[in-house]
Amino acid sequence: MKILVTGVLGQVGHALHNTLSNAHEIVAVDREQMDLCDVQAIRDAISSIRPSLIINPAAYTAVDQAESESGLAYDINVTAPRVIAEEAAKIGAGLIHFSTDYVYEGNQITPYTETDAVNPLSMYGQTKLAGELAIQAVGLPHLILRTSWVYGAHGKNFLKTILRLSAEREQLSIVDDQWGAPTSSHSIANAVQELINVWHQPDQQQSGVYHFTNAGSTSWFGFAKAILATYESQARALGLPALKIKSQSISAIKTVDYPTPAARPANSRMDNTKLQTTFGIALPPWEQGLQEVMQRIQHFD
Ligand SMILES: NC(=O)c1ccc[n+]([C@@H]2O[C@H](COP(=O)([O-])OP(=O)(O)OC[C@H]3O[C@@H](n4cnc5c(N)ncnc54)[C@H](OP(=O)(O)O)[C@@H]3O)[C@@H](O)[C@H]2O)c1
Repeated sequence: MKILVTGVLGQVGHALHNTLSNAHEIVAVDREQMDLCDVQAIRDAISSIRPSLIINPAAYTAVDQAESESGLAYDINVTAPRVIAEEAAKIGAGLIHFSTDYVYEGNQITPYTETDAVNPLSMYGQTKLAGELAIQAVGLPHLILRTSWVYGAHGKNFLKTILRLSAEREQLSIVDDQWGAPTSSHSIANAVQELINVWHQPDQQQSGVYHFTNAGSTSWFGFAKAILATYESQARALGLPALKIKSQSISAIKTVDYPTPAARPANSRMDNTKLQTTFGIALPPWEQGLQEVMQRIQHFD
C-alpha cells in the first residue's frame, strides 16, 4: 500500500518509516517537504502523492511552549489535520492520526476510557482535542490514536533526558504524583503495522478514537527509576559508560515542587480495551518497551 507518513524526523514518524518500509511503499515527508503551517503545501503534496493511507504523527509537541505559542500550535495541531483529512477524503484515502492523554483533566482515579469526558488543562491538550474534532467533522475513514509519554532511541524524550542528567549530575528529583503509561515509539510503530493489516480496507464503521499505549502504568519517578535500573543492568554488555546517579538514589517530588508553564493531568492512564476488542491488538507492557528501547540507545542527546 502507498502510505504517506508526516513528521518523519519525529519520534513516531521515524519509527513508522523504519517499520512500515518493509511491507509498504512509504512516502515519508519532513517539514521541508510538507510544512504543516502551509495549507497549500499540504494540499499540493497530498494531491500529487495520492497515497491510499495517510499517517500523521507530525504535531506541535512543545507542551510548555504552546502556552505562549497558541497560534502556531493551533495551525499545526488543528488546521493542518483538518486540511489533511479534507485532502484524504478527496482521493479516497484513510487517515491515521495521533492524539494525546493530555486531552484529559486527570482527576479521575481509574484509567480513562474513550467515552470519558475530556477537559484538557493545557493549550497543547486543547489544540490536540480540537484537531481530533476537526478530523471527525470531515467524515472520512479515520483512526485517532491517543498515546502517552512517548519515548524511543530516536528523538528528544524523557528517557534521554534522564540518562543525560544522570551522567552529568550528582542528584535528580522527579515528580511522583503524575501517573501514565510510558509508550515506546517502536511499540507504536509495530502496533500500527498490525493495525494496517487489519484495517487494510479503511472502514468508516471502525473510525473513531482509540487509546494506544504500552500496557500498565507508573509515575514519572517510577519510570525514571526503571530507566536507570535497566541502564545499569545493560550498560556493561552494551559498552555504555557508567552514570553518576544510581536508580536507588533519585528522589521523588510533588508536581507543586516542579512548576511548569502548562499544567499536566495527574492521572493520564488510559484503558486500551477498545483497541483490543475492535482490532485484536494490544501493545506490550511498558517495561518490555523500555528493555527494547534501551538495547537501541547509543547516545543521550
Ligand atoms: N511525545 C509525547 O510524549 C506524546 C505524548 C502523547 C501524544 N503524542 C502525540 O504523538 C504524536 C507523535 O509525537 P512525537 O513524540 O513523535 O513528536 P515529535 O518527536 O515532537 O515529532 C513531531 C514532528 O512534527 C514535526 N513538525 C512540527 N511542526 C511541523 C510543521 N510545521 N510542518 C511539518 N512538520 C512539523 C516535527 O518536525 P521537526 O523535526 O522539523 O521539528 C517533528 O518531526 C503527536 O501527534 C503527539 O501529539 C506525543
